[in-house]
Amino acid sequence: MPKPYVIKISSQKGGVGKTTMAVNLSAALQEMGSNVLLVDFDIANPSVGFHLGIEGQNLGVQNILLKGAKPEDVIIPHAPTGLHVIPGNMTYPLKEPSAQNIKVFFTKLKRLNYDYLIFDTAPGFFLPEFSAECNEAIIIATPELSSCVSSVRLSNIYKKHGLKSQLLINRIRNKRYELHPAEIEETFGSKALGLIPEDETVPKSIAMHVPAYILNRKSIFSRAVHDTAHFFPSNGYNSERDLIKRGGILSFIKRLFRIKSY
Ligand SMILES: Nc1ncnc2c1ncn2[C@@H]1O[C@H](COP(=O)(O)OP(=O)(O)OP(=O)(O)O)[C@@H](O)[C@H]1O
Ligand SMILES: [Mg+2]
Repeated sequence: MPKPYVIKISSQKGGVGKTTMAVNLSAALQEMGSNVLLVDFDIANPSVGFHLGIEGQNLGVQNILLKGAKPEDVIIPHAPTGLHVIPGNMTYPLKEPSAQNIKVFFTKLKRLNYDYLIFDTAPGFFLPEFSAECNEAIIIATPELSSCVSSVRLSNIYKKHGLKSQLLINRIRNKRYELHPAEIEETFGSKALGLIPEDETVPKSIAMHVPAYILNRKSIFSRAVHDTAHFFPSNGYNSERDLIKRGGILSFIKRLFRIKSY
């Protein structure tokens, strides 16, 4: 695995669980023995700090990206998880980074000795210069048609720019009206990296500012996060999972997006 291995947690649609998954997958990878730097790159609406109980966020990712601050002066060690975190600066005026800002930023972070750089991002965030620095993107989807369609769209954008992406399905409740994970996988064109259930532990944990993975390690959510983290490169797996061969009812979306049948 290239070191650091850079992962962008993303979605086209908002509110699907990007921050939740970025925080908890990072905690699981750290627990499994990797050194993880978790970065809040949702510059307009930073929220990693809320999930982790990190306060006083008037120094953050924007200071490195736009003001030339040293990462070492911004990184916060988070004792309950062992993670290192670059939170978002809650008070920084909103400003788009330039291509040069992104390049210098990644040069600084990649010099540090981490196994993983995990980026939480804003819904719909896409900058070619940012994607060029990542090893892969994880696209979070929920079992609804709109989320599924927008995930395929995002994966096609990544494909065009040469970035590998994997699907992670979150908030599965196994209701009859939900899309079945197999249908989403079929539409997406590959197996999901993980299937994460809806679990009350998650909103509870956010209210308590402790990651669900730490708050209740035995919850169905934490067990699913742990299983998913097993498929990450540091755990010896090639995270590209077998492509599925099924045909099925969402083939119209496949045709819409001209996804190959495997
Ligand atoms: N597996 C889950 N079970 C129960 N609730 C969940 C789960 N995943 C996420 N949530 C809830 O969904 C809400 C949105 O989650 P989160 O903030 O992680 O989404 P997001 O994609 O980062 O949102 P945004 O696009 O605004 O950044 C949170 O209130 C969280 O409690
Ligand atoms: Mg978020």
